[in-house]
Amino acid sequence: MARTLIFGGAFDPPHCEHVAMCKAAMRELNIDRLVLVPTYLPPHKGAGTLPFETRARLAAAAFEGENVVVDDIELERGGDNYSALVLPALKQKYGDIVYLIGGDSLQYFDRWYHPEQIAKICPIAVCSRGGYTDVQKCADEVVSKYGAQIYILKYSGKDVSSSMLKTELLLGEEPSDLPGRVLEIIEQDGLFEQYFPMLEKLRSFQTEELFAHSKAVVKRAIDFNNKHNLAQDFGRVFLAALLHDNAKQRPSLDGLNVPKDAIGTPVLHQFLGAEKARRDFGIEDEGILDAIRYHTTAKAGMTGLEKLIYTADSLSDDRMYAPIPELRRVADEDFDKGFKATLKFTYDKLLSKGKGIYPLTVQAYEYYITNGQN
Ligand SMILES: [Fe+2]
Ligand SMILES: [Fe+2]
Repeated sequence: MARTLIFGGAFDPPHCEHVAMCKAAMRELNIDRLVLVPTYLPPHKGAGTLPFETRARLAAAAFEGENVVVDDIELERGGDNYSALVLPALKQKYGDIVYLIGGDSLQYFDRWYHPEQIAKICPIAVCSRGGYTDVQKCADEVVSKYGAQIYILKYSGKDVSSSMLKTELLLGEEPSDLPGRVLEIIEQDGLFEQYFPMLEKLRSFQTEELFAHSKAVVKRAIDFNNKHNLAQDFGRVFLAALLHDNAKQRPSLDGLNVPKDAIGTPVLHQFLGAEKARRDFGIEDEGILDAIRYHTTAKAGMTGLEKLIYTADSLSDDRMYAPIPELRRVADEDFDKGFKATLKFTYDKLLSKGKGIYPLTVQAYEYYITNGQN
């Protein structure tokens, strides 16, 4: 009986690396049928995920011309979609199956729902995506612990992130790494365009340079959120980062409520930014507003989203100052260390300038640096 390769994913959106990975697995393992299994994701507000049907259609389009089936088993099952539960049903349906996953997923195999069951259902093919070199070591561990059968593909692939592609699309950019047909459908159907009116409005409040900075902060924040599994909601990160400097070049108070001691100082724009994000962009989520409100000064006891926006704003790609490569290196390795290093650098710089430091920044410094809180 013919073998079938099973490949699951959110496909939000599907990208060229998904295609390359599946093709490599089929070639190397001599498999001629591919079944794509789009993940069921609960309906979501905000930047939201595309509906299941749209993601399924995009997935099929990405593999145009291949022998591919898109299976909606996860939609049928609703929320109950662990591999250990879905794979037996797929095996029953398709017979001899191989389950393709990314090398980075194998790293966390222990944390999967009932890994010992998954190991018994079917062989697993793993691709050492993104230059992940320890796949062999990981595979050996999974084999000896669970008795799984693992194929390590020669194809190593490159690191492409769906959420970064999605971010670029939402920002009105045209990302590379999208299959041509997928991009066509996205453009034809106007997918990922929900923030275009907001972008236009923001652009009217900012110079080209500041607008580019706003977009760079969005990308940096999304990147940190993914890279470090910070588990912040995509839409909230997107909005807080995009709007963080919305008031920077329109300092009029307009009767809005801001701290008196901030008026006439560089930190005014964070307080005013929160108020104007509410008034002009309809943001009601207090967590997003607070991330805007403290993005310049920081403060003691920040939320995850606040830290993320603060750090992304300081380390965005458009910024160039002496220690930034080092700060980025630290933050790329360990987000919390990067946040603290950024706070310390900023505080020291303000101190050396000999001007006053806003009280919230002093409190943040004492809390995170002097007292070493997290
Ligand atoms: Fe700012
Ligand atoms: Fe900024």
